[in-house]
Amino acid sequence: MTKLNVNGADHAVDAPPDTPLLWVLRDTLHLTGTKFGCGMGLCGACTVHLDGVAVRSCQLPLGAVAGKRIKTIEGLGKPEALHAVQAAWRDEDVPQCGYCQSGQIMSAAALLATNHNPSDSDIDAAMAGNLCRCGTYDRIRRAIHRAAVALRDKAAA
Ligand code: FES
Ligand code: FES
Repeated sequence: MTKLNVNGADHAVDAPPDTPLLWVLRDTLHLTGTKFGCGMGLCGACTVHLDGVAVRSCQLPLGAVAGKRIKTIEGLGKPEALHAVQAAWRDEDVPQCGYCQSGQIMSAAALLATNHNPSDSDIDAAMAGNLCRCGTYDRIRRAIHRAAVALRDKAAA
C-alpha cells in the first residue's frame, strides 16, 4: 500500500510502485480531469501539483509520491468557488476542444502561486511544456494576466 494525499483526502493505494501516478489518479481514484496525452512528459496534459509544484503525472511512479500532497484539477476550486485561474479561463473563453486545458490550468496556477505579476516571457517559460493542438495560446496568456490581477486585487482587499 502506498499512502498519498490527493486534494486533501488521504488514500492508501494498492498498486505496483512503478505505476504512473496518472493511472492511479484516473483509474484508481477516478479523478479523470487529469488527461493522458503523450505519456512521455512532452505535452503537459497530465499536469498536477506535487507539494505545490507543477509536475507531469505520467512520468511520476507511485512509489516516488508516497506521503506527498497531490492536487488535481478537481481540487483546485469548486463550481461555487472557482480558483482565480479557472474564473479567468471562463471569462476569457479559453478552451476549444478542452483536452489540454486541465493541464494548462494547473501549470498556470502553479506559476501564479510564486509569481504574482508574471511578464509575457515568464508566462511563456512556465507554460512552454503545455501543448495545445487547438492553438489557444493567446487566450491562455490573457487569462493568466487576468487571473494575476484578480489575485493581486484579492490580496490587497
Ligand atoms: S501525458 Fe504526461 S506529459 Fe503528456
Ligand atoms: S483546447 Fe484543444 S488541445 Fe488545447
